[in-house]
Amino acid sequence: MATTKTDMKSAATPARSTQAKTADRAKPSPESRQRRAQTVASRAATKQTKTARDKQQDQMGLADLLEHGLKDMYYAERKIYRSLPKMIKAAEDPALVEALTAHREETQGHIETLEAVFELLGVRAKAEKCDAIDGILTEAETILEDFGGTMAGDAAIIFSAGAVEHYEIARYSAMIGFADALGLDEVHQKLQSTLDQENAAQSKLSEMAEGSINAAASEYDEDTADGAKKKAS
Ligand SMILES: [Fe+2]
Ligand SMILES: [Fe+2]
Repeated sequence: MATTKTDMKSAATPARSTQAKTADRAKPSPESRQRRAQTVASRAATKQTKTARDKQQDQMGLADLLEHGLKDMYYAERKIYRSLPKMIKAAEDPALVEALTAHREETQGHIETLEAVFELLGVRAKAEKCDAIDGILTEAETILEDFGGTMAGDAAIIFSAGAVEHYEIARYSAMIGFADALGLDEVHQKLQSTLDQENAAQSKLSEMAEGSINAAASEYDEDTADGAKKKAS
C-alpha cells in the first residue's frame, strides 16, 4: 500500500505530545527550584578548580547563561558610568542634567549590586566585553557630535540614553527570569532593585521628551519652515 501524506506526518510526529512538552516547560516546583539553586552553588565551587579546557567541554546551561549575562552587564554598567559625564555636560535642560546625574549615581549602585550577586554565586566579578553596549555608546557619541549644542541636542541625548536604558531593561528582565527558574531568590531580589531603577529612569526620560524637550526642539523646524516659505514667496 502506498504511503499517504497523513501516514508520513504521523510517522514524523514525536512520541511525546505537545501538551506534555508544554507541561515540561511549566514553572518549576519550589522543590525543584531549591534543587537547582543547590546545583548552581556546587557547580560554582567545582568550576574554580577546573581548567579552561574542562570548562569548554562542559554542557552550557541556564546558570552559565546567567553568569555570562552578569559579566556582560558588569562591563556595560561600568562603561555607561564612564560615558554619562559627556551626555551630562552636553545637556542643556536643567531637569535633564539632574536626571542624568542622579542616574549616574544609581549606575554606581548597579555596579555594586552586580558585585554582590557575583559574591552570592561564588563567582569572581569579571567583566566580559559586550558588543551591544559598545555599539549603542559609539552611536551615542556620533549623535552627540552631530546634534550636541543644537536645538535638538537634548532630544538627541534622550534618544541615545533611552537606547541604553532599554538595553539594560531587556538584560535585567531576562536575568531575573533565569534567577527565578534557578531558585536564586536573593539574586532575583537584587537584580529586581536595579531593574526598578532602570525602568524609572526610562520613564522619566520619556516624560521629559514628551513633556517639553521634543516640543522645544521642534520650534526650530517650524521657524526653518516659515523662513523657507517666506523666501519662496
Ligand atoms: Fe544600570
Ligand atoms: Fe540605566
